[in-house]
Amino acid sequence: MNHLEIVKAALSAPTGDNCQPFSFSWHENDLSIWFNPDRARHFMDVGLAASLLSLGATIEAAAIGASAYGMAPAIELQLPLKQEKAIAATLKFVKSAIAIDPLQPHLLNRATDRRCYQGGYNHEVFTALAAEAAAYPTISYATTSLENADFIEQILHADSIVFSHRDAQQDLMRWLRLSDDEIAAHRDGMPWTTLGIKPHELLFLRACRRWWVQSLSNKIGGLKIARQVLKKQILSSARLIGLGVKTSAPNSIVEAGRIALRIWVRLNADGFGVQSLSALPLFTFAASTGSLPELNPGYAELFESAVPTFRRVMGWSDQITPLWLFRTGITTPLAPRMRCPRLRPDEVVVS
Ligand SMILES: Cc1cc2nc3c(=O)[nH]c(=O)nc-3n(C[C@H](O)[C@H](O)[C@H](O)COP(=O)(O)O)c2cc1C
Repeated sequence: MNHLEIVKAALSAPTGDNCQPFSFSWHENDLSIWFNPDRARHFMDVGLAASLLSLGATIEAAAIGASAYGMAPAIELQLPLKQEKAIAATLKFVKSAIAIDPLQPHLLNRATDRRCYQGGYNHEVFTALAAEAAAYPTISYATTSLENADFIEQILHADSIVFSHRDAQQDLMRWLRLSDDEIAAHRDGMPWTTLGIKPHELLFLRACRRWWVQSLSNKIGGLKIARQVLKKQILSSARLIGLGVKTSAPNSIVEAGRIALRIWVRLNADGFGVQSLSALPLFTFAASTGSLPELNPGYAELFESAVPTFRRVMGWSDQITPLWLFRTGITTPLAPRMRCPRLRPDEVVVS
């Protein structure tokens, strides 16, 4: 088994704003995944749910990568995540009789696609995904069409927090790479070329690094424009995909991250774009577990009222807590510059 190749597979997993908060160490065929809270620190990472989802996706990506070598992991989680750098999970790889994972050839092609899509509601991939998700009894998977105007309204309202809450906006800005030099200097964060914006909008985005500029823009119509763009993106999609959990324990969130990664790779392999819409679900999850941080006026009410709406549109009972949301739809291949870079495997392996 090639250890750096497994780390490369693990690194391909999505993380919030591409912050890549994990490093790795090997002891023989045991891979430990370390959580680095300094990289993860983010207003949107309420109760560390985003980090736990990323951890699950990273574990699953490593497992898919290792399947190419006929290896499968026994997974030991060390949760909750700590406030200091510490091991979050260890994957003990052993020879497996199980065949190579069918997602393995597609793993490194997975990416976020923030463009408009071309629908695709009736595609057979959704039947296959429902069957795959049914194998995970602790997680609820559901999809919905775009007919629920009140739900879409809540998604749009929730997403505006990214520009209207100072801490959320400043944490996002930390990870935006807004020039060729910045893109070349970092192998983390999000190059502007992945954001679906036009070159002439770049100057404006750079100016918004100063909170007062963002705040002024919000007041003179910037929020309205961002909302119109997102609404168009959502309405171009085939479906919205929801993931919910039966318990809010950290290991359930990790499990949801694992399934999410599988769904995402499968959709991309079938020609579907995927974009996480995480403001609504992450804060709705926090609202339903009583852990909302201090928010601008109106947002706490939004997230509390979104819990029943989310359940209704996904057909979930009161026992299910909404956790994650995506939009997906038929798309064209992404150009290389529309993909987020990754740290090099040798940079993130610690001895
Ligand atoms: C927990 C979590 C939440 C995310 N939330 C959003 C989101 O709200 N909007 C968005 O466009 N991307 C979101 N992303 C996608 C990341 O920004 C993306 O995965 C990262 O930049 C790496 O890019 P890639 O997916 O193309 O590899 C989220 C990813 C994770 C793991």
